[in-house]
Amino acid sequence: MAFVERRIAVVGTGYVGLVTGAVLAKVGHRVTCVDNDPAKVRILEAGKLPIYEPGLEALVEDVRTTGRLAFSGEIAPVVGAAEVVFICVGTPPLPSGKADLSYIEQVARDIARSLGTHYTVVVEKSTVPVHTGMRVKRTIERHAPAGARFDVASNPEFLAEGTAVRDALAPNRIVVGVDSERARVVMEGLYAPFACPLIVTGIESAEIIKHASNSFLALKISYINAVARICELAGADVVQVARGMGLDERIGPHFLRAGIGYGGSCFPKDVDAFGEIASELGYEFTLIREAQRINAEQRTRFIRKIEDALWVVKDKRVALWGLSFKPDTDDLREAPAMDIARWLLDHGAVVRAHDPVAMDKARVLLPKVDYGADPYAVCEGADALVLVTEWKTYIEADLGRVRAAMRHPILLDGRNVFDPAHVVALGFEYHGVGRGAVAGHDGVVRGPGRGR
Ligand code: UGA
Repeated sequence: MAFVERRIAVVGTGYVGLVTGAVLAKVGHRVTCVDNDPAKVRILEAGKLPIYEPGLEALVEDVRTTGRLAFSGEIAPVVGAAEVVFICVGTPPLPSGKADLSYIEQVARDIARSLGTHYTVVVEKSTVPVHTGMRVKRTIERHAPAGARFDVASNPEFLAEGTAVRDALAPNRIVVGVDSERARVVMEGLYAPFACPLIVTGIESAEIIKHASNSFLALKISYINAVARICELAGADVVQVARGMGLDERIGPHFLRAGIGYGGSCFPKDVDAFGEIASELGYEFTLIREAQRINAEQRTRFIRKIEDALWVVKDKRVALWGLSFKPDTDDLREAPAMDIARWLLDHGAVVRAHDPVAMDKARVLLPKVDYGADPYAVCEGADALVLVTEWKTYIEADLGRVRAAMRHPILLDGRNVFDPAHVVALGFEYHGVGRGAVAGHDGVVRGPGRGR
């Protein structure tokens, strides 16, 4: 299919909207990203980003200078001029576990009222439960002027925070769900510059591909976390076990890192929403419910490890390395560090934390934490160091210097990034996750003179 340049509207300028808009402009389309938050639009128009995402600012800057990417706070004229409209607004979790689709409905109404007289494809890119496409179509039909010509398509996004630009510029697949030949042709022409496979399905299948993919990855993480538990009990090392498993290409090495469990704005919410929609449709998806249970337990078990290592928590000085839910992002949604810091504060510990980019956001949520200028400063006089997020700067830190700064050299490694033999040789007491073989059956490695 040959490339066809399109006029595109992207509604919503979160991670997905911004990256989608910038990447589609980069490959030659004319894109306007719309947001109803005037403050966000002002930031974007000033050449800044409301989020931290490596490479995104440079990409946005690059495509803005070509004139192919613009920002606006006015949905009507932008949608009215567009041939393809992407819905990229948030679908946050409701207390019930279902996705809150009220922003989607509102945007569908706004789009309906703004459609031009030409044919338009309205694309749902936000992560939504199956049948949302059908409901978006119904909503637009209800609110659009008589005779409006449009189709709805589903085009789920698979980018991950921290690598979003790379993921979107070179995806491993593009999924397009359509229910008309005309929409299929538009979407194939739109994505013609991308070399990866483009899978065309029905709308429901595309919607399920997204939820099923995220839930499968979450399942894989919970699986290795459960194996980590067995490793601790059996005296094995889950890092070695995962390496041995991952070399089987049917299993693969990715998403086999045991740790504090998955967090972020996607997996917790999407697994829940997939379970809810399955149940609504008449299937109790107990497999993913168990994955959720293991994930929650993983977090509390790690907190128990901290408690066990410290014994009395009150007045202990604890250093936290990493606050964001994963490296290379400042996103604190469902970040384990938030729970750990809160628990420590509630139990009377003095918490000093460092994160390369997330400290400004964390200060607002946890003002009682003392934030340090660098990773070493927070370890000064500490009774324990907890590695929560595996930023490169921590993996490469001078642990000899850390050891010398601490009052008690207890190292809790929530992501299994350190070599236990090495840190023990430096004089640390090491607590990993699922490393019974190297650590003794309780998952603890003690240095010389510290053994039990
Ligand atoms: C995830 C998916 O990877 C993307 O494909 C998807 O598009 C995105 O959700 C979304 O739905 O928008 P993201 O949440 O940014 O992306 O981050 P991941 O790299 O997938 O990590 C998710 C969580 O799993 C993190 O808390 C991470 O620490 C944890 N994780 C990941 C592990 O505990 N072990 C692993 O082996 C891998």
